Amino acid sequence: MWELLAVFYINIRSAMKILAIETSCDETAVSLLEAGGDIESAHFSVLGNALYSQAQLHSKYGGVYPTLAKREHSHNLVPLLTDALKQAGMLTPATNTLTDKQTKTLHTLLVREPTLFDRVVEFLRTFEAPAIDVVAVTRGPGLEPALWVGVNFARALSAVWNVPAVPVNHMEGHIISAVVHPPKEHEFVMEQTNFPVLALLVSGGHTELVLAKAWGDYTVVGQTRDDAVGEAYDKVARMLDLGYPGGSAVAKLAAEGRRTAFHKVASDEHEACTLPRPMLSSGDFNFSFSGIKTAVLYHIKKLDSLTERAKMLIATEFESAVVEVLVKKTKKAVELHQPKTVVVGGGVSANSFLRESLTNMLQDVAPSTALRLPDKTLTGDNALMIGMAGYIASRATVPETHDSEELHADGALRL
Ligand code: KG4
Ligand code: ZN
Repeated sequence: MWELLAVFYINIRSAMKILAIETSCDETAVSLLEAGGDIESAHFSVLGNALYSQAQLHSKYGGVYPTLAKREHSHNLVPLLTDALKQAGMLTPATNTLTDKQTKTLHTLLVREPTLFDRVVEFLRTFEAPAIDVVAVTRGPGLEPALWVGVNFARALSAVWNVPAVPVNHMEGHIISAVVHPPKEHEFVMEQTNFPVLALLVSGGHTELVLAKAWGDYTVVGQTRDDAVGEAYDKVARMLDLGYPGGSAVAKLAAEGRRTAFHKVASDEHEACTLPRPMLSSGDFNFSFSGIKTAVLYHIKKLDSLTERAKMLIATEFESAVVEVLVKKTKKAVELHQPKTVVVGGGVSANSFLRESLTNMLQDVAPSTALRLPDKTLTGDNALMIGMAGYIASRATVPETHDSEELHADGALRL
């Protein structure tokens, strides 16, 4: 273990190549990055980036179906790794075959993923070990069966290629996504980030406000008590027949509603949609979104028919309600904690109305606080953010573990 740590520390002094793996939910992603610099000057070149979204497959269940997600990750990790290595020009035919000992190790590590085992063995017999320095993998939070596939895959590659495997917190990946920007295609550089940082993390599985005193030093100051905001968007999208995941479809309809100001001229009281803004006066930084979703359901039941106009009114009011709650809670947290930087991360950070509303709020209450929003290519789940977060975490703190034996998935991992 200490030997591996020493090797890793020597490596992070200079530019290093990182293979990053993400399987926490319904996106399977593999990236290859070259990273260099200290935390403040960290820069990343994207050598290869391959992602497969299973969203279409899960749409008939109206949410992510864990067994299906696990199966799909097992099927797709090796093709995505092959693709990413090919993009990086790092896919070369094998000169040596796997030893019996290596095959046995792989069998032990992948005993629960027979499909992945077959594919990994075939891949490792066909291609040479690439010149990478470390494998970074999402350890949690997320769907535990899905996380395990990525973790076991990372452990298998780490063992055969003899490189360390570094566990990454998915939420830290979403935070890092907001503080890097692309000066040009395939490049990301770290922006100057002054602490304390207040992070609003909004995704399909999480809604939380996190206070960071330094990289790796996080305190969750508020979180949802029930549904995540992305989950609420997806459920409302389902009620409005807008498909899955429906966050962006609801947002599009709401933007149209705001543009045409339909909501201000509902034809009668029956059609007008008024939704609650839960927890606004709760005196803490927690959220609750299931009440808004249920209120949408009752409103729809009351309607004679769900016309296109009624859908637009609902989407507009729904987005106003959730964004108002998110922005007002963030405002209170800004007033109390006086952060120097506010960052927003997670799939819902793609939402333009949320971006605009947060920008306006900060200009009003804390104009000297910097607002960092992720590049639109990094809002949803991806492996680039896992590679970047792995690098930053390794530079900030003693890495948690590099011994693949100790690397475990943790669906409920906290920041
Ligand atoms: O971070 P993410 O890709 O996956 C999780 O870790 O959950 O977030 C996905 C969530 C979904 O619920 C999706 O509907 C939502 O982000 N989303 C949006 C928008 N784009 C994606 N929600 C609101 N407005 C959007 N433009
Ligand atoms: Zn996510």
